[in-house]
Amino acid sequence: MDDLQAVSWLDGKVRLLDQTKLPEELILLEISDYRHIITSINNLTVRGAPAIGIAAAFGVVLAIWGADESDRADFLRNVNKAIDELKATRPTAKNLFWALEKMRTAMSKNLNRPLRQVKEAMLNEAKAILQDDIERCRKIGDFGQELLPFRCTVLTHCNAGALATGGHGTALGIVRSAIDKGKKIKVFVDETRPLLQGARLTTFELTEDDIDVTLITDNTAAYAMKKGLIDVVVVGADRIARNGDVANKIGTYGLSILAKEHKIPFIVAAPLSTFDPDLASGADIPIEERDGDEVRRIGSLQIAPEEVAVYNPAFDITPHNFISAIVSEKGIARFPTEEKLSEWLK
Ligand code: MRU
Repeated sequence: MDDLQAVSWLDGKVRLLDQTKLPEELILLEISDYRHIITSINNLTVRGAPAIGIAAAFGVVLAIWGADESDRADFLRNVNKAIDELKATRPTAKNLFWALEKMRTAMSKNLNRPLRQVKEAMLNEAKAILQDDIERCRKIGDFGQELLPFRCTVLTHCNAGALATGGHGTALGIVRSAIDKGKKIKVFVDETRPLLQGARLTTFELTEDDIDVTLITDNTAAYAMKKGLIDVVVVGADRIARNGDVANKIGTYGLSILAKEHKIPFIVAAPLSTFDPDLASGADIPIEERDGDEVRRIGSLQIAPEEVAVYNPAFDITPHNFISAIVSEKGIARFPTEEKLSEWLK
């Protein structure tokens, strides 16, 4: 997977691996207009909390890359406009807002320099956000792998892998690091309706890496647990509130209830860029609702009447007391509490 980066910078352009086309087609888009980054985040060409943040950071660079280097007021206006528009793409993943604030700070800190140098400083910041995310994922992997038995089957949901991050992945980073340590890991993946990130993306990237993967429908998770086929659940996160409540792909909450009932450890993996200490609990996390056609259709195939009402929240909230451990680049918080997590954020 190392050569298949979700987001990268290449000669003044942002390169995105088009995740709407996987696994059927492997298409690399080269984007030079930040408005194309906005549509790419909206339509999930690039998706996954850290990857959205990285793409948005490079989007800010695109917005100013060709800008007139003599008009400072115009430059400032364009950066702020691009940041505001990028922020309005998806509401749930904290990493988007985190990365855009880092870009705004990079601009403010350098604003008294010639605009050419401000551009370079902002490009360097976006590159650092990407590189930093890869390093955070590797640390999450190294810490988190300790939680996996030598031989086990992990159930994961959606895609919290290399495709959702700078590389390596969060939940899948734990799987990869465990395998690197010589552990014998199998992965079960929920297909993850409506947009099938599990079926299309997680199976793709694990297969690319020759990791033993089995696809199940979302409805099968309970039965697979009952049959003793799952030893541990590992998922990613889009935002983690101060008390440890976690927003992640719709269906994650249900899995946490199932895991508790079957006495299976339930692990969440996320970098600190996903944490939101400003929000007291999961009840405060904004949950994105997406177009009903994502449910009425599977790809281009219509599976429900055109006019049927649909409720399509993209994420749900898993309460902290249903979580056995949260893993970040700082370590492992077992039975996460506000006190334990606040240590990481100091
Ligand atoms: O709608 P998506 O595909 O962006 O949702 C992604 C998820 O829910 C992931 O689990 C989460 O962003 C963590 S990615 C490391």
